[in-house]
Amino acid sequence: MPRYLALAQQLLQQINQGQLRPGQPLPSLRQFAEQQQASKNTAIAVYQWLEQQGWIEARPRQGYFVRARSRLQQPQPAPLSPQLPSLGELGLQIVRTAMQPHWVPLGSAHPCCHFDSLDSWQRQLARSARQHKPAHSHYQVPPGHPGLREQIRLRLHKRGIWLDADDILLTNGCQEAFTLALQTLTRPGDIVAVESPCFYGVLQLLEVLQLQVLEIPARSPDGIDLAALASALKQWPVKALLLHPSYNNPQGYAMPDSHRHALISLTEPYRLPIIEDEVTAELGYQGQMPLALKSLAPERVLLCSSFSKTLDPDLRLGWIAAGPWHDALLHRKFVSSMASPGLQQQALAAWLQGRGYDRHLRQVRQQYGDNWHQLAQALQGLPQGCQLNAPAGGYLCWLQLPPSVDSLQLWQRADQAGISLTPGALFGQQPQLRHSVRLNFAHWHRDIRLRKAMPKLIELIEQCQH
Ligand SMILES: Cc1ncc(COP(=O)(O)O)c(C=O)c1O
Repeated sequence: MPRYLALAQQLLQQINQGQLRPGQPLPSLRQFAEQQQASKNTAIAVYQWLEQQGWIEARPRQGYFVRARSRLQQPQPAPLSPQLPSLGELGLQIVRTAMQPHWVPLGSAHPCCHFDSLDSWQRQLARSARQHKPAHSHYQVPPGHPGLREQIRLRLHKRGIWLDADDILLTNGCQEAFTLALQTLTRPGDIVAVESPCFYGVLQLLEVLQLQVLEIPARSPDGIDLAALASALKQWPVKALLLHPSYNNPQGYAMPDSHRHALISLTEPYRLPIIEDEVTAELGYQGQMPLALKSLAPERVLLCSSFSKTLDPDLRLGWIAAGPWHDALLHRKFVSSMASPGLQQQALAAWLQGRGYDRHLRQVRQQYGDNWHQLAQALQGLPQGCQLNAPAGGYLCWLQLPPSVDSLQLWQRADQAGISLTPGALFGQQPQLRHSVRLNFAHWHRDIRLRKAMPKLIELIEQCQH
């Protein structure tokens, strides 16, 4: 954990244990740095972090003070204004913890890759590897393997998305698709609107690209708040909107069709480019494929997806259908990463020609649906004030905690108990996100530790309440 975060957590503990009381002044930055034998910059980072999280406040010419309890207990939504994301190292830190094999895996958004239905895929991969002749090896330059692009086209066609295989650009996962899209649509300092809470990979990317983020509230079951978006668009020169409307990470909702139509109409007068994240679109528990925004506004929507959540994130196989920006993205992809691994592309193209992938999706959807029900049952004893949002698909759910529970503190305590989870603060800067966590239940059916960890999780939430 970075030093500043460890020091901030110490102060947070003192606040929670009543050693530092509401209204009490904190040492000046210089005193704090001396006491902790830290640099002044570290002291600044500690106070800034606590201030951002709403625990302390700066008073002009007086210094820093612990915030009044009442303001902590009722986190107010921050006014909508663009901000530079500042996740820094926190994201990587939390993801690293979540990936440790000995931790109970509620944290990272890694899917389960152990399904019988993947046997035929493993065999295809081995066959393709055997047939791969080094003498014929070459860069699989963009737009990527024609056979795989054709298979993706056919799948989109069934959903009313009319594209040519040449409209599809293969990428290293969906994350590279976002990167190429944002680099093409924006310049540093521009404003990008996202739903809040928002997948933190996007926020980290905006931070690195020096873009400002405008967090528009989103709630289950509809998704992004259209009234808030409408007023934001009137007020700010937003350059792009990035959304994950189908089995959203972290909230699990599927935006209703009527809401999708309204969103497209609302953004039409601005000709606003929309980056649509569809990584989980095939994971709805009812088997229904959502209406893609791309099918409603093909010229304005950059459709991004990958096989990371349905098959294996390790493949790093993603794609983007960017409409009029296709050529610009293709060039950018070529100069930045040259190509994507051809062997995986060839193997997947061959496998998608059969029925194996659809058979696999049926098994996965059913298993994740069962897992969700079992998790919800195991968490029936959650303390009052908690709310577990029911997802419509995927393998993630969002647990809202009582306002007195700080999710970073819960994350830290859970970490000490060998349980990984993802604190809400990672999904945006709105203060109310501090009181939520995201849970991954993809591994529930295979990992008995998850079931056993539920009473402990409930106990930790109760402890944080006090
Ligand atoms: C909602 C969402 N979109 C995109 C990504 C990135 O996907 P990929 O692994 O294909 O780069 C993730 C990864 O966790 C995700 O959760």
